[in-house]
Formats: sequence, C-alpha cells, structure tokens
Amino acid sequence: MAKLHHISAFNTILYILTLTNLCQSQSCPCGYSVGNSVFTEAMETDFTQVQSLNSIIGDWQVQDWRSNASADANIPYNRVTQYANVIAGNSQGLQMMVRTASDDSIGCSEIRTARNDIKFGSFRINMKTTPINGTCAAFFWYQDDAHEIDVEILSRELTTGLDGTPGPVANLVIHSPESQAAGFDASKTNSFMKDTMDWNPTKDFHEYRVDWLADGVQFYTDNSKVKQMTNNVPENPGRVFINHWSNGSPGWSGGPPKEDATMWVRYTRLYFNSSDPKLVQSAEKRCSAARSKGSKNLVCDIGGGSNNGGGNNGGGNTSGGNSNNGGGTGSNGGNSSSVFVPSSPVLPTNSSGSSSSWADLPDGSDSDKKGAASPQLGGNVGALLALSFLCIVSVHFI
Ligand SMILES: *[C@@H]1O[C@H](CO)[C@@H](O)[C@H](O)[C@H]1NC(C)=O
Ligand SMILES: *[C@@H]1O[C@H](CO)[C@@H](O)[C@H](O)[C@H]1NC(C)=O
Ligand SMILES: *[C@@H]1O[C@H](CO)[C@@H](O)[C@H](O)[C@H]1NC(C)=O
Ligand SMILES: *[C@@H]1O[C@H](CO)[C@@H](O)[C@H](O)[C@H]1NC(C)=O
Ligand SMILES: *[C@@H]1O[C@H](CO)[C@@H](O)[C@H](O)[C@H]1NC(C)=O
Ligand SMILES: *[C@@H]1O[C@H](CO)[C@@H](O)[C@H](O)[C@H]1NC(C)=O
Repeated sequence: MAKLHHISAFNTILYILTLTNLCQSQSCPCGYSVGNSVFTEAMETDFTQVQSLNSIIGDWQVQDWRSNASADANIPYNRVTQYANVIAGNSQGLQMMVRTASDDSIGCSEIRTARNDIKFGSFRINMKTTPINGTCAAFFWYQDDAHEIDVEILSRELTTGLDGTPGPVANLVIHSPESQAAGFDASKTNSFMKDTMDWNPTKDFHEYRVDWLADGVQFYTDNSKVKQMTNNVPENPGRVFINHWSNGSPGWSGGPPKEDATMWVRYTRLYFNSSDPKLVQSAEKRCSAARSKGSKNLVCDIGGGSNNGGGNNGGGNTSGGNSNNGGGTGSNGGNSSSVFVPSSPVLPTNSSGSSSSWADLPDGSDSDKKGAASPQLGGNVGALLALSFLCIVSVHFI
C-alpha cells in the first residue's frame, strides 16, 4: 500500500513536471524580441506538416473571390481566387497555384490571417517561387489598398541573375495615400524599391521578412537587412496575406502563365502586437505573472538579423517548424540566442467550435481587391484555455 502510494505520488510529480515543462516550452510569456523591439503575439505555421487545410483554419483563411478584367486598366483577364488552388499535404510545404488561362479567367490562390488586429510586427515567410513566366508571388501585410506593405516577386522579371549577376529582384512596396493618389502606382512614390537577390528564388527556399515598426519598415532576405523605408509607414492594424496571382496585366503580373505555376511556402513566422486592448491586457498579465514567479526566459529572442549583407541562413536552421532558434539568428550575426522559441504553432489550431477572441473583431476596411472574409473561423480559445488551465494547475501544485 505504502509502495503503491509512493509510485502514484512519483507519477503525479512526473506528470506535473511534464506539464510544467510543456507550459514553459509553449510560451515566451513576455513576448518575442527583435533588436530593441518586443512583440507579444506569435503565430508560427510549419506548412510541411500541414496535411489538410482544415488544420490551419483558425489561424488562416483560404480565400475565394474574383476581380474582373478591365480594358480601361489594361487588365485582360479575370482574376479568380479559388480554394482549390491552395493545396496542403505536400512535404515541401503549401502549394499555391496560378492556373493557365481558361477562357478569360485565371485561377489564383490566396490565404490570409484570421486575425485582423496585427499592428507592428516581424513577418517571415520561407518560400520558393515559380519559374513560369507571368505570375506575382506576394507576401504582405494589408489594412486597405492605401495601407499595405508588400514583398512581391514577379516571374516575368527573372530574366537575369539565374546563373550570375545582377540577380533577380524582389519588389518592396508600401502602399499609402500617396500611392493611392498616383493610381496605386507605388513606383511614383518613394516607397517602392527593388532588391537584387543573390540567388534564384525559384531554385531554393529562402526567407523573406518584413519588420514593421512605428518609425520604419525594414526588409530582410535570409536574415540580412536589404532595404528600409521610413516614409508612409502604416499605423493601424491589419492582416498578413500570401497570394500567387495573375491577371495578364503587362504592367505587373504579366502572363497568363503557359503552364500551371506553383509557389511553395515552407513556413510563416509572424511575431506582432495586437491592437485589441483585451489582448494587450492579457499579455501584460501573462508577463507579470511569469515575472513574479521568477521564471527564466521571459522574452524569446527571435533574432535581429544582420545588415552586413553576409548573412545566409546561418546557424538558425530554417527548415521547418522544429527549429528552436526560429532561424532568426544567422551565424554571422554574433548574437545567436539559446532562448527557446516555440515550434509551430504557438496557438493550438482547429480546436472545437468556440470562437477565438479576435474573430469577433470588426472586419475592418477590406476592399473587394483582397476579398471577403472566408466563412470558416476556427476557434483557438478552447484548446488555449485547456492548456492555460493545465499550466495554472501545475503551477498551483508546485
Ligand atoms: C508591443 O507591445 C508591448 C506591450 O504593450 C510594448 O511594450 C511594445 O513596445 C510594443 N512593441 C512595439 C514594437 O510597438
Ligand atoms: C478541423 O475542424 C474541421 C471542422 O470543424 C473538422 O472537420 C476537421 O476534421 C478538423 N481537422 C483537424 C485536423 O482537426
Ligand atoms: C464580374 O463578372 C461576373 C461574371 O461575368 C459578374 O457576374 C459580376 O457581376 C462582375 N463583377 C463586377 C464587379 O463587375
Ligand atoms: C516573360 O514574358 C514577357 C512577355 O513575353 C517577356 O517580356 C519577359 O522577358 C519574359 N520573362 C522571362 C523571365 O522570360
Ligand atoms: C536542419 O535540421 C534538420 C533536422 O534536425 C536536419 O535534417 C537538416 O539537415 C538541417 N538543415 C540544415 C540546413 O542544417
Ligand atoms: C549583439 O548584441 C549586443 C547587445 O545587444 C550589441 O551591442 C551588439 O552590437 C550585437 N552584435 C551584433 C553582431 O549584432
């Protein structure tokens, strides 16, 4: 009897220790730091592990909308964004398609974050773009057409650098009231830059990153800072999008592509602040509770990157979501961190039907250009509550 009691006490302690470890390893209670900036929220998705789109609904919404051809705007094809063109279940990552033209339409793909409360952040995507001429591969933050930060790779521009220099370009853009006044032609503003890449973006996966702060937007490729913009910096919340599209416009996407074209997304790592006062408050509580408990690793360093142009993927193994360093700390950065960054996703996805707190936020001012809200909004709150409950219970016991 005594022995049995002993064993079960031992098991209980083991159980509690495991839970405690789980809770600590799942959280960076005071947020995520990049240089001097700290963000309280994180959403990491390892698309190589996503077997079905259902499992990312809640974090992401798969879009379904159309934008018609317009002779006036020199847009020859309808751009038709369809669920069927976003394909999960491949170990390379998420497959985002642009189809060959069918009649006067081109099938395109788009996903966006369910959350529309994203205000300042470090947004990272690891992707491989298509070599098929005539598409735009885009990773962007978006409030509305006049407040948008983009990284866009146009396959029609990949005419150089495929086997030497000068390299192919990534278009780096802030859309602003100024670009709106110029007919959404950001090249007529000072918030449009072309970064020449040292690689062929269609051959291998690379990380493209936007750090958006109140005083400027910095662009990184593979952890090296390549450009910065301090004008037209947005200051209101929005969402993060990924899309792959063509409408045949000679001025931008080109195309239509002659074959079905694939953009591969290996992971996204989004670290950001929320504009929702309730979430700001709960982040503060989470942090001060951990602080008063004397927890270590309150803030996780997600890597500041370098700006000497020498950084490649470095020490931060960026292959997939299991890297503890988040891939953010290039070997030449000198500040590689041993702080644990949770593997994907930070928030449990696709738990039972309860709605997440941000799902109730107003939908903001999305224009039809970026489509309507997807009908599905999974809930994270159930699983999050369960996890917090376990954490609270284990902490209480200890
Ligand atoms: C994000 O929010 C935290 C907590 O409110 C704040 O301390 C921090 O400065 C914010 N970060 C940025 C980049 O604004
Ligand atoms: C996600 O939720 C949907 C609908 O609630 C369900 O049909 C699906 O099986 C779930 N997927 C996973 C991976 O749990
Ligand atoms: C776009 O074209 C479709 C099909 O012809 C039509 O039903 C729809 O009303 C058009 N939308 C707009 C905004 O013109
Ligand atoms: C793509 O096609 C356009 C139009 O034919 C052409 O001008 C451009 O050079 C092509 N780009 C590449 C990378 O072949
Ligand atoms: C990254 O880590 C994985 C798993 O540990 C390993 O298989 C892979 O070779 C590593 N990649 C690089 C580039 O180091
Ligand atoms: C590393 O961090 C320290 C302190 O934050 C800073 O002074 C130093 O410049 C950083 N080194 C590099 C290579 O970024």
